[in-house]
Amino acid sequence: MTVSDALRDRRSCRSFATTPLAAGALDDLVDRARRTPTAGNCQGVEFLALEGADVSAYWDTTLPPDRRGAFPWPGLVNAPALVLAFGLPGRYLDRYAEPDKEGTSLGGSATAWPVPYWLTDAAFAAMALQLLAVEAGLGCCFFGLFEHEEAVRERFGVPDDARAIGTVALGHPALVGGRTSASTARPRRPLDEVLHRGTW
Ligand SMILES: Cc1cc2nc3c(=O)[nH]c(=O)nc-3n(C[C@H](O)[C@H](O)[C@H](O)COP(=O)(O)O)c2cc1C
Repeated sequence: MTVSDALRDRRSCRSFATTPLAAGALDDLVDRARRTPTAGNCQGVEFLALEGADVSAYWDTTLPPDRRGAFPWPGLVNAPALVLAFGLPGRYLDRYAEPDKEGTSLGGSATAWPVPYWLTDAAFAAMALQLLAVEAGLGCCFFGLFEHEEAVRERFGVPDDARAIGTVALGHPALVGGRTSASTARPRRPLDEVLHRGTW
């Protein structure tokens, strides 16, 4: 499978079989996903990988059982693995305070960054993880933490300065029972609408 194949075939999967991933598969996926570029080679992206009882704890934290009946994607909760990607601003501030980055003036404060590269880098890694999942024949879906970032931080002992960009659910797609979302039904915009050649 080429990268082009993976991008073409990939769709967000919101309904999973409960079958666990093969032993070691999650570590292997994350190990390969973390090879994406990072600003200044900060490598300031870290992952929280959840399987088994930890997945249940995640859902108990973000989608309590009393709200689960109304959740539009019950099959998402079956995913046997979840990976949360975090950017660590502190690593970027330290790196950009080093002599070769002095001219950027970005080493002083996180608010000085026009683009918070820790979030950019974490998003790159999360996308790589999804492409690797497709290559491995798995389904995946990226979704946000919304108002639950602090509760997840507390439940899983995530350091205060780590910023979550979201969660990637991973697993074998359910053969039946899949449900699309209104977002999925939106057609892809034509290339000419999004590609501005030479001028906007
Ligand atoms: C930043 C981001 C946030 C997303 N948040 C959610 C979400 O909270 N729930 C969800 O079901 N899908 C979420 N998605 C998946 C998108 O809805 C999906 O990628 C989009 O509809 C295109 O469909 P496709 O991935 O099947 O091509 C998110 C995707 C991105 C990139």
